[in-house]
Amino acid sequence: MEEQIQTLKPQVLTAIQTAKTLAEIEEVRVQALGKNGTITGLMKELGNMEPDKRKAAGQILNVFKTEVLTEIEAKKKALETAELNARLAMESIDVTLPSRPETTAGRVHPISQVMEEMLTIFGQMGFEMAEGPDIEDDWHNFEALNIPADHPARQMQATFFMEGDQKSLLRTQTSGVQIRTMETKKPPIRIVAPGRTYRKDYDATHTPMFHQIEGLVIDKTTTLAHLKGTLMEFMKLFFETDDIQLRFRPSFFPFTEPSYEADVGGALARNIGKEWIELLGCGMVHPNVLKNCGLNPDEYQGYAFGCGIDRFAMLKYGIPDLRGFFEADMRWIKHFGFLPTDVPTITNGLSMNGGNKKC
Ligand code: DAH
Repeated sequence: MEEQIQTLKPQVLTAIQTAKTLAEIEEVRVQALGKNGTITGLMKELGNMEPDKRKAAGQILNVFKTEVLTEIEAKKKALETAELNARLAMESIDVTLPSRPETTAGRVHPISQVMEEMLTIFGQMGFEMAEGPDIEDDWHNFEALNIPADHPARQMQATFFMEGDQKSLLRTQTSGVQIRTMETKKPPIRIVAPGRTYRKDYDATHTPMFHQIEGLVIDKTTTLAHLKGTLMEFMKLFFETDDIQLRFRPSFFPFTEPSYEADVGGALARNIGKEWIELLGCGMVHPNVLKNCGLNPDEYQGYAFGCGIDRFAMLKYGIPDLRGFFEADMRWIKHFGFLPTDVPTITNGLSMNGGNKKC
């Protein structure tokens, strides 16, 4: 027995030493101490020995077995630590690497982008933002704006009425927010109101839902010159060029007197082979409108303007067809949309943001 242990010992210990993985060490353990293992075999042999010899041999065998078990445990621990270290080294994150480009980032819709651009500029010019409901009543959308029931201007704005209710409608213009503002706030008033508007219309330049932004300034000495100066400054900032001309063409809106359509000339118009581009409606708020909101026209006066946000977006970013805005085509949005980082805020402004990064 002693001899057998002497020959087995170096074999088992070498096998333990040279095992390179946890699987290998387990194999060594099974070969030595498993059911049919070499050491287990010797243990079985003890039973056939004479009692006095068995005692001595048993002692040696037990010492050997304990040694093997201790060695296996130690080797297992060493291998586990080594494997863990190797994994840690492999999976370690190099925080100094540059970040991957954000290929999965969504896009900001050009309408949202342009709305933010417009609000940012007006915000910087001292305007507050106002809002009104999409489902409007007859008073705010028409009546208070000096458009009585039989007025032909109602026909020009083909209206969606709520079913069975001629008094609730989808607002045809954001001008109603003028009324809501003057009903609740005393002058000085200086607001812009962006939002959705609706008319029964559908072709390359009309969709049943579109977007407008309304402006209203009411004070005691506000004049057309202020309107022109404000719009001029706005156009320069929005279209990011000083090469801008502004022309006021006499027009008619029931809620302004005098009324104008403002056209822009300069670089923007030349770019698309035109001398002038019709951009928005505006004028001095009609005395009847002031009266309808409880303001004395002898004390207060001011200007208003209203324009299509979609149209501004098309002009600035060269978008040819209005219908694309609302078709939810991912290819379109990928092409014309913006990264969230391009959206200006009141604090970083338009000019500081580097303006139109897409061109
Ligand atoms: N609400 C008009 C429209 O939808 C646009 C407009 C014209 C708004 C003149 C105004 C304005 O505030 O003064 O066609």
